[in-house]
Amino acid sequence: MSFQRKDLLGLGSLTSEEIAFILKAAEPFKEISGREIKKVPALRGKTVVNLFFEPSTRTRTSFELAAKRLSADVVNMSPSSSSVAKGETLLDTARNIESMKADMIVIRHSSAGAAEILARQVRLSVINAGDGWHEHPTQALLDLMTIQENKGHVRDLRVAIVGDIAHSRVARSNMHALTKMGAKVRVAGPPTMMPPYLHRFGVEVYYHLDEALADVDVIIVLRLQLERQGSSLFPSIREYARLYGLTAARVKRAARDVLIMHPGPVNRGIEIAHDVADSEAAVILDQVSNGVAVRMGLMYLLAQRRES
Ligand code: CP
Repeated sequence: MSFQRKDLLGLGSLTSEEIAFILKAAEPFKEISGREIKKVPALRGKTVVNLFFEPSTRTRTSFELAAKRLSADVVNMSPSSSSVAKGETLLDTARNIESMKADMIVIRHSSAGAAEILARQVRLSVINAGDGWHEHPTQALLDLMTIQENKGHVRDLRVAIVGDIAHSRVARSNMHALTKMGAKVRVAGPPTMMPPYLHRFGVEVYYHLDEALADVDVIIVLRLQLERQGSSLFPSIREYARLYGLTAARVKRAARDVLIMHPGPVNRGIEIAHDVADSEAAVILDQVSNGVAVRMGLMYLLAQRRES
């Protein structure tokens, strides 16, 4: 098979074959980041525009490094340094970028659906780098790659996603990705942070973390999304940490070789204890490394498709 899509907007609309195809394409790109000269000519002559309307450390840097290691030209735009600050619409901004013959836009935006709106209106490829509560597809792809590397497979693994499920685009993309790839997914968190549509994903819902962690192979801890909650959904952060924070004692309920993951940024001492975040079982920085390879593979596939 080949990957024939113009854009990557989410994993909900991808088949398991397409997800596996992107992961396979990303594999050879891992080795490039370990070289002294970290560059291949795969995207020479192409231009990638990073359009980040929300803060980001990992995703923005990772997309920039991925594009540069593929020899693309990269332009970084933020709302404060662009004409968005003067009232220009998102669509007009994208159309102007397209008129300058860029090839791809990578967009992060606080509104769910922002990437899809652009993708429908422009001919260049659009990659969703996180849109509101909706999806963060490359995060889930790099999570899959990290699980696959450490466990050898994803199918039939018991995976617990812990925290603020309702406000997390990482949770949503991972629920799509993991269930499509055959994992048995549990979600755990306070009832006020659980969305009503979880039955559609075929995941098990837990309100008690200790029960959710029993014998799991992988724990994905989510950041408490304080900036997205609007009003407080929990009495206090201390209370949240006490009931839903991943501690070393709680990790003991999981399988002996459990893998602990977190998309970052990490709120140490809130959703995850310091010693757990730094433990042997934690692969948080491996996730970050894999992000570059996944994004290289994805951009390579999208560029190939545009050339065919
Ligand atoms: N995981 C993630 O999206 O991190 P950033 O917000 O730093 O990009």
